Amino acid sequence: TARHRIAVIAGDGIGQEVVPAAVRCLDAVAERHDIAFDWHHLDWGSDHYRAHGRMMPVDGLDILAGHDAIFLGAVGVPDIPDVHTLWGLLIPIRRAFAQYINLRPVRTLPGVPSPVFSRDPIDLVIVRENNEGEYSEVGGRVYQGSADEIAIQESVFTRRGVERVARYAAALAAGRRGHLTSATKSNGIVHTMPFWDEVVRDVLADFPDVTARQELVDALAASLVLHPERYDVIVASNLFGDILSDLAGAVAGSIGCAPSANLNPPGEHPSMFEPVHGSAPDIAGQGIANPIGQIWSGAMMLDALGHAAAAAQLITAFEAALASGTRTRDIGGTATTAEVAAAVVAHLGPS
Ligand code: NAD
Ligand code: IPM
Ligand code: MN
Repeated sequence: TARHRIAVIAGDGIGQEVVPAAVRCLDAVAERHDIAFDWHHLDWGSDHYRAHGRMMPVDGLDILAGHDAIFLGAVGVPDIPDVHTLWGLLIPIRRAFAQYINLRPVRTLPGVPSPVFSRDPIDLVIVRENNEGEYSEVGGRVYQGSADEIAIQESVFTRRGVERVARYAAALAAGRRGHLTSATKSNGIVHTMPFWDEVVRDVLADFPDVTARQELVDALAASLVLHPERYDVIVASNLFGDILSDLAGAVAGSIGCAPSANLNPPGEHPSMFEPVHGSAPDIAGQGIANPIGQIWSGAMMLDALGHAAAAAQLITAFEAALASGTRTRDIGGTATTAEVAAAVVAHLGPS
C-alpha cells in the first residue's frame, strides 16, 4: 500500500462543502488502487483568525512541511479584509514551499455547455507564474484614509523566476500539441514585459519543436472568448494568469469546474492542490457548490504523487457523472454537491 499524509485545509465558505465531497471521491479511488490517504484536517482559515488573530498557527508552515501534499478549499470571507486572509495563509504557503508553477488546465467537459457559444472542444493549460511578478511584497500604503494617500506595489520579475516558468510551459507544450502562447503587455507601457518576452524567447531556443507566439493580454482575453479551441499552453505572469484562468474556466462551462495545482517541481517541498475558484460567499451554506474543480484538483494531486492510473480513473468517473446528467446549478443542473460526489463514486465502478 502506498500511504500519503495529506494536510487538508477546507478553509472558508464553500471550501467546507467541496473539500469533504472531494475527499470522499479520493478515498474511493484510492481504495481501488491500493493507496491509503492519511488526511490531517486543519481548522485554519477565517474562524481561526477570529479566535486567534491569525489564519494559521505561528508554526503553521512547519506543520505543513511534514506532509506529502496540501489539499486546500478556499479562504476569504466578506467581513475580514482579504489582505489578512490571503497574506495570512494562501500566499505564504505558495512562497514558503516555492510552488512557483500554478498549473490550470481548462477542458470542455461532457454534458457541460459553454455559456458563450458552441464550438470545437477546448483543451488548454494555463501555466501561471506563482511566486513573483505583480504579487510582490514590495510596496504598501501610506497616509491611509487621507487625501494624500498613496498605494504602491512594485512588480518584481527575476530572470530565474521567468526562466523556470517559461521552461516548464515549453516542456509541457512539447509533450502536447506543441503550441505555446505567452501572455504579455510589451507595447511600451509596462516595463517588466519586454524583459519577460526576452527571457521567454531565450528559453524557447531550447525547444525547436514548440511553435511559440506572444499575444498582448488584452487581445488574448478577447481571443480566449472567441477562439478558445486554438490554444494549447498559455504561459502568463501571476496576475495575468490569475485573470485568464477564471476567464477560460468560465468559457469552458464554469469556474466551479476549474482545478489547479501549485507545484514545487523539484519536489523538495509539498505542492498544494486547490480549485481556481474562491469561497463563493454568495452560495455558501446551501450545499449547491460545484465540487468538480476540487475533485479534479484531487486528481492532479494523485498524478503528482505518482498515481497516474488512479488520477485518470477519477477524471473518467467525474466525466461520466457529468455526462449522465448529475450536474450542479452553475452548469445547468439541479444536483447538490453531495449528489455529485455520490455519482462520481458510483461511476468508479466496483471496488
Ligand atoms: P469566487 O470564485 O468565490 O466566486 C465567484 C462566482 O463564482 C460567485 O458567483 C460564485 O458563486 C461562483 N462560484 C465559484 N465557485 C463555485 C462553485 N464551485 N460552484 C458554483 N459556483 C461557484 O470569487 P469571489 O466571489 O470574487 O471571491 C470570494 C472570496 O474568495 C474572496 O474573499 C476572495 O479573496 C476569495 N478567493 C480565495 C481563493 C483561494 O483561496 N484560493 C481564490 C479565489 C478567491
Ligand atoms: C487564485 C486566487 C488568489 C490569487 C487570490 C485569492 C489571492 O484568485 O488562486 O486564483 O490571485 O492567486
Ligand atoms: Mn484567481
